[in-house]
Amino acid sequence: MKKLTLLVIICITFFNCNKNTKQGLITKQAMVVSAREEASKIGTSILKQGGNVFDAMIATDLALAVCYPYAGNIGGGGFMVYRLEDGSIGALDYREKAPKLATKNMYLDSLGNIIPDLSTKGGLAVGVPGTIAGLFEVHEKFGSLPIQDIMQPVIDLANRGFVVTKKDQAVLEDKREDFLKVNKNQILFTNKWVANDTIKQPNLAKTLEAIMLNGRDEFYKGQTAKKLASFIQANGGVITVEDLASYQAIWRKPITFEYDNLNIISMSPPSSGGICLAQILKQIEDFNLDEFGHNSLKSIQVITEAERRAYADRSFYLGDPDFVTIPHDQLLSDAYLKNRMANFSFDKATPSSTISHGKVDIIESDETTHYSIVDQFGNAIAVTTTLNSGYGSKLYSSELGFFFNNEMDDFSSKPGTPNVYGLIGAEANSILPEKRMLSSMTPTIVEKNDKLYMTLGTPGGSTIITSVLQTILNVHEYDMTMQEAVNAPRFHHQWLPDQIRMEPNSFSKDLVNQLQQKGYTITEKNADVIGKVDGILVLDNGQLEGGADKRGDDTAIGF
Ligand code: DON
Repeated sequence: MKKLTLLVIICITFFNCNKNTKQGLITKQAMVVSAREEASKIGTSILKQGGNVFDAMIATDLALAVCYPYAGNIGGGGFMVYRLEDGSIGALDYREKAPKLATKNMYLDSLGNIIPDLSTKGGLAVGVPGTIAGLFEVHEKFGSLPIQDIMQPVIDLANRGFVVTKKDQAVLEDKREDFLKVNKNQILFTNKWVANDTIKQPNLAKTLEAIMLNGRDEFYKGQTAKKLASFIQANGGVITVEDLASYQAIWRKPITFEYDNLNIISMSPPSSGGICLAQILKQIEDFNLDEFGHNSLKSIQVITEAERRAYADRSFYLGDPDFVTIPHDQLLSDAYLKNRMANFSFDKATPSSTISHGKVDIIESDETTHYSIVDQFGNAIAVTTTLNSGYGSKLYSSELGFFFNNEMDDFSSKPGTPNVYGLIGAEANSILPEKRMLSSMTPTIVEKNDKLYMTLGTPGGSTIITSVLQTILNVHEYDMTMQEAVNAPRFHHQWLPDQIRMEPNSFSKDLVNQLQQKGYTITEKNADVIGKVDGILVLDNGQLEGGADKRGDDTAIGF
């Protein structure tokens, strides 16, 4: 009897522990999942005051600009996909754009070679920022609380300071040399910050306060605009006050498609995210992934081959829809996509050279950030925002208190030559004045039976699309909880370079050998983590489960 009781206790304990490690935070009504606890807390407090998902978005986004300057920003841009409680959907593009003085060959020398670092570091790398325009656009259309109520807690955070985490310490150390190279003077972030220090940003607080009091135009037409343009120009850039004055965030129609019994809503161009995600899912739809098993040889083969084909199309066809014609319907047609996989075989990898040409070596791991929010009214958003690389161009205005993006590197500076993500572009993504650079950001919302099912997204440059893909598949095909789906090891293929990138120490030697025998090149080099997915899943009982990526300091908070 005693033995039996002990056994029961062990079983219950084991079951509960197991359950705890398997599921993320569960809440009844609302949740914010973001890269930082402080930001998720501020977003949740706005919801608790009765604010909606859009009020919480503005607060979370700006809080990330304060406590996660690595990627959170007011000097960058982003994309938002929403689904209202009544089922209506939409998307906002607040992507940066090229300054009016940008030219096609601005990063090339007289021999037509790329000048190292010019599109990634310093003033010339900066695209016209879209974040403040995006957030005010959201407030105007959907906001329910006064902007003061939303922004004041963020301003307080900037004044009070945020606590440096171990991960912050590591990335600040890593980038210190670049900060010193790019900026004429020491900046706040060149101090030797260590974990548990508090970083206060009074100048950022002042800039935010001016924006709160004077509205969006403070950033695009007011004093801040003037200071911003002259600072960028003093640092080799070409952004003018006219560029700022003419910047507009744009409401876009999201990409929508069906996969199995799911309806997926994702970001449209100038992000490649939605189209690529649709292409990959449509190509793999007829394969029995659930039978093959998660991260099994067959699953990896099918997904890899579909990714290879989708990224080849991305490279050629996609760019800013206001400048190039994108053959949406053809790229997303069932007939085209089934045909694309016609030469796939489980026996042997399809070399990328037989799909198109090109040569690439490196993939650098950089930063962006994604957050997902569901409110107590049933509205949902997915937002991915970025400075492009970690701390963007590394150019920091001490007066205004923030870093500027290096989003210009997302253009194809020279057709056939890869950018920092190893992505190769063509004419469709060449630089033109006022054009938006192609993105991989994939904020995505999933419906099941016409109801909200999931909201998710991630940073990770070119790996964003495939990380979102795997997380959806992990839940839908492989029956994982949201947290398990987020935790699961990831792999990635992007056509060129022709290799499967795998998270290190996460896949068995045996599996890697089998893939190599089929002709796949595997790399774990340069690949510490792939993505930091933050998502929310609506459970059968209507409760919410958060998936906050353990690869970062990401945190789910809600009620
Ligand atoms: O828009 C894009 O696709 C890139 N600028 C995103 C950069 C990114 O995700 C960096 N994070 N790892």
